[in-house]
Amino acid sequence: MKRQCPSLAEDGPTLNQSELFDAGALRQPTTKVRAAPESEAAILESDSAPPPKPPRLAHYDEASDIRLYHGNCLDLLDEITAKYTDGIFDMVFADPPYFLSNGGTTCKSGERVAVDKGPWDQSRGLRDDSGFTEAWLRRCQRVLNPGGTLWVSGTHHNIFTTGSVLQDLGFRILNVIVWEKPNPPPNLSCRYFTHSIEFLIWAARNADSEHVFNYDLMRKINRGSQMQSVWRLSAPLPNEKVLGEHPTQKPVALVTRCLLATTCEGDFVFDPFLGSGTSAVACLRNRRRFVGVDATADYVQLAMDRCMAELEQGASLLDQIAKSGGRQTDCLRDGNSKTAGVTTP
Ligand SMILES: C[S@@+](CC[C@H](N)C(=O)[O-])C[C@H]1O[C@@H](n2cnc3c(N)ncnc32)[C@H](O)[C@@H]1O
Repeated sequence: MKRQCPSLAEDGPTLNQSELFDAGALRQPTTKVRAAPESEAAILESDSAPPPKPPRLAHYDEASDIRLYHGNCLDLLDEITAKYTDGIFDMVFADPPYFLSNGGTTCKSGERVAVDKGPWDQSRGLRDDSGFTEAWLRRCQRVLNPGGTLWVSGTHHNIFTTGSVLQDLGFRILNVIVWEKPNPPPNLSCRYFTHSIEFLIWAARNADSEHVFNYDLMRKINRGSQMQSVWRLSAPLPNEKVLGEHPTQKPVALVTRCLLATTCEGDFVFDPFLGSGTSAVACLRNRRRFVGVDATADYVQLAMDRCMAELEQGASLLDQIAKSGGRQTDCLRDGNSKTAGVTTP
């Protein structure tokens, strides 16, 4: 028999968010949502400065329970682990540096340009890159709830290392999704196939994890057929970039599908590499609670701006689903969905 997602109250007191990050373990917000834009900008340091240590809460919206931090994700994850030793998040969505800004070129708007996403995207050699990957994945594993799952995106530059580290740490890989881009930039060298895909690894915290998979909802979205592991989705739409651009911005639709597939309303999501705040926007639209962090001040600012614009718009994806006659009521815990015989990799 299929079981609905438990309500927040049933999940116990750890989900009472008004108490969660108070009392100094994680600091009070320095700004509140809807504060004057000038004051928000003032609290963020320039990009030449290292991120604040310990991380600083830059944005907090109490009603939707969205928190955005400026800082190093490793520091924030250590603070959260110290306070919540049994884990606290139902899902981690991580779009880490792919380590591909290393002197190569790509095609942008028909022109050959250097691949330079920023210093954070430069490789420091395979050993150091793997060390960093291991450091943040190990910490993410600690902050996941027992049934929590992790999504990590990548290309061939980082995804094989990521898969190897995940297995070393004891994660259970549940699926590898191929995100197919309908309009990839052409390959100017004509010496390789056009790079038109990225990967997303979906993994459970460990071998015994009882993960969520909303099979019925995915099938509904896929017009009645089982959702497959190749997702053809466009790059971010122009309206996702009106407040500013991030060089590796993900489409909201991509993160939304991950969220809807593997979390329930009210679940708690963490993003260690917030960037422009795509995951925060997806959480706002779908009533998931959220904590995100980025080391680059300008990106935290952009994420804040996007969240505030989203709150002002006030539209939620689930409202639209509800209005069109179907609500998300088929969110299941793994034990139940397993009986449907569809979640075992
Ligand atoms: C691939 S981008 C994420 C883009 C994001 N998914 C979006 O849609 O905009 C990776 C981000 O990680 C940030 N970053 C890199 N190292 C970090 C660290 N140690 N802690 C926190 N953020 C970091 C970078 O500033 C960059 O914005």
